[in-house]
Amino acid sequence: MSSSIPKTMRQLLQPSIQSPNLILTTAPIPTPTTPDDVLVRVHACSPCAGELLWAKNFPDAIPKDKEMVPCQDLAGTVVAAPADSGFGPGDRVFCRISAERAGTAREYALAKVGELARISEGLGWVEAAATPLSALTAWQGLFVHGGLEVEGVKGNQDARERNARKRVLVTGAAGGVGSWVVQLAALAGATVVAVCGTGKEEIVRKMGASEVVDYTRMSIREWFARDSEARMVDLVIDVVGGKTLADCWLAVRDGGNLISVNTPPDLVKPAGLEKELAKSAFFIVEPSGSNLAEIGELIHLDRVAPVVDSVWPLEQFAQAFAKLESGHAKANRKLYQECGWNQKPGSERGPSVLTADNSCRFLTSKCWIN
Ligand SMILES: NC(=O)c1ccc[n+]([C@@H]2O[C@H](COP(=O)([O-])OP(=O)(O)OC[C@H]3O[C@@H](n4cnc5c(N)ncnc54)[C@H](OP(=O)(O)O)[C@@H]3O)[C@@H](O)[C@H]2O)c1
Repeated sequence: MSSSIPKTMRQLLQPSIQSPNLILTTAPIPTPTTPDDVLVRVHACSPCAGELLWAKNFPDAIPKDKEMVPCQDLAGTVVAAPADSGFGPGDRVFCRISAERAGTAREYALAKVGELARISEGLGWVEAAATPLSALTAWQGLFVHGGLEVEGVKGNQDARERNARKRVLVTGAAGGVGSWVVQLAALAGATVVAVCGTGKEEIVRKMGASEVVDYTRMSIREWFARDSEARMVDLVIDVVGGKTLADCWLAVRDGGNLISVNTPPDLVKPAGLEKELAKSAFFIVEPSGSNLAEIGELIHLDRVAPVVDSVWPLEQFAQAFAKLESGHAKANRKLYQECGWNQKPGSERGPSVLTADNSCRFLTSKCWIN
């Protein structure tokens, strides 16, 4: 590795998995140990709601010896990569790192070759770091688990026509994952019903939604009951769970698909409801450099855009996580501009990002470190 790499770096650490508290600490630069390890200088990283409880709540999914560095998404520059990996020093890359390994809220991180994709020209660190988790979740929810045809987003007219026969309902539609679901489903040709809070209608319509339900004024159950024949949907992508997901059971048609990244849908199926779905499933997003490269191409072509909620200095990690965990993070351009970033946030709502360059910034739903 280059001698210009420092011996130590700053990083966030969760000292106990029993508590979501984090500390800012100093650690040695990580060393590649397997043939597919790539060392990346992190310019921006991004957290996910609830991630500080994963190790406690899902002990089978998170190895006991994981170094508990939070944030699994990064945008950064390759420092060292295997010779035959297709990546080399200086490449601008972004990725989601498997939750089984140390995260990215640190100045240097190790990614696997298969997790990485190049950042296309014109996409800034913040937007890039805000993309992987949310966009990959939406992509896999719609095209891997949900049954929408992926060729539709690539302009295949036959696929678009078949997708156009489908109505897709999205909960949390103005949030990190939901904003990608809305954009990708609309781009693929489907009709999108967006469920979001007050004041988000304009933005979700701009992203491609045809119908909007303000959940603070009307539940999905009430909305559906008012015109159930016309409002029936073929596919639900849910990020909210609970009563919201239970109501989605009513709105999805017999033989449709109900997909949640929050809760296994069968756990909240309304008692006595007789409905056979083609699929009702919870899934966990898979890191995928190839999916991310396809998403990056669509961003490059201006077909979709990352949505950034806010940017925080690394030192303000506690406030950033508090905002993220509120579930209602809003755009915070002021802080972003005060921090002197030379890219503008992609949109008004989305993930927060944590950044850690020498002056250290942290976004809330997606993070970045310079
Ligand atoms: N399984 C997986 O692989 C996976 C992957 C990614 C994310 N997730 C999970 O997905 C969830 C969402 O993540 P995110 O990054 O999209 O979070 P986020 O950016 O905080 O977005 C959450 C959205 O939910 C909306 N919301 C809150 N209560 C609602 C309700 N009752 N009805 C409809 N919408 C409601 C909020 O809308 P307002 O601001 O308008 O109130 C917000 O836009 C988290 O629980 C996360 O852990 C799971």
